[in-house]
Amino acid sequence: MFSYILLKLIEFFSFLCNENSAVFKLKWARADIQSDIKFIGKSYVSIGGKVKIGKGFVCRSTPDGFSKIIVQKGANLTIGDYSGATNVEIQCHNSIVIGNHVNIGSRTTIFDTNFHSLDWEIRSVRSKDVLMASSAPVNIGDYAFIGARCIICKGVTIGEKAIVAAGSVVVKDIPAGQMWGGNPAKFIKNL
Ligand SMILES: CC(C)(COP(=O)(O)OP(=O)(O)OC[C@H]1O[C@@H](n2cnc3c(N)ncnc32)[C@H](O)[C@@H]1OP(=O)(O)O)[C@@H](O)C(=O)NCCC(=O)NCCS
Repeated sequence: MFSYILLKLIEFFSFLCNENSAVFKLKWARADIQSDIKFIGKSYVSIGGKVKIGKGFVCRSTPDGFSKIIVQKGANLTIGDYSGATNVEIQCHNSIVIGNHVNIGSRTTIFDTNFHSLDWEIRSVRSKDVLMASSAPVNIGDYAFIGARCIICKGVTIGEKAIVAAGSVVVKDIPAGQMWGGNPAKFIKNL
């Protein structure tokens, strides 16, 4: 098992060094990543937790953009087969599951944490603040389409085949097969 993971990491590193301008930082990582994934353009990926990325994942960064995937120690990020994202920011402190064939528009951010406590006294002590921020899993179903510049906040589930309109802030669950949009995102129509 250990050698399998090591092999995958070496494979992953050489793939990255040869083909990409991505900066990868692997610390305490447990990665199960298919070899045909692509990082195009500039990316920063820091894996401290457990990451699984399926076949055909494409993470694209435009010349004026940047993709950032950060998985903290103890957190889990899963991305299914044939999903894609452009200039995305994924910050995983708990659990983020992105299904198969999910399209994520440019400059969308996905957070499963508040990063900071809601209590100003805790926020004023940085070491406590980091530990006390609340987090909750994010789940994005198969074939979902998330428009550009959306913010997906902690604890939400976006159902299969749902569409999130460009520029939306998602703070509530979106049922499968519905289009939602706005800030905060609200129901627009059934698909
Ligand atoms: C959501 C979207 C797919 C809607 O497409 P559509 O159904 O053809 O668009 P319509 O113009 O018929 O809009 C349907 C309704 O959604 C609303 N709507 C559309 N885009 C919206 C947005 N970004 N935020 C909030 N509401 C939106 C419209 O006002 C309209 O509401 P109404 O029925 O009350 O008039 C499209 O507007 C969108 O946001 N596309 C995302 C594109 C993108 O970011 N791609 C990724 C590039 S990397």
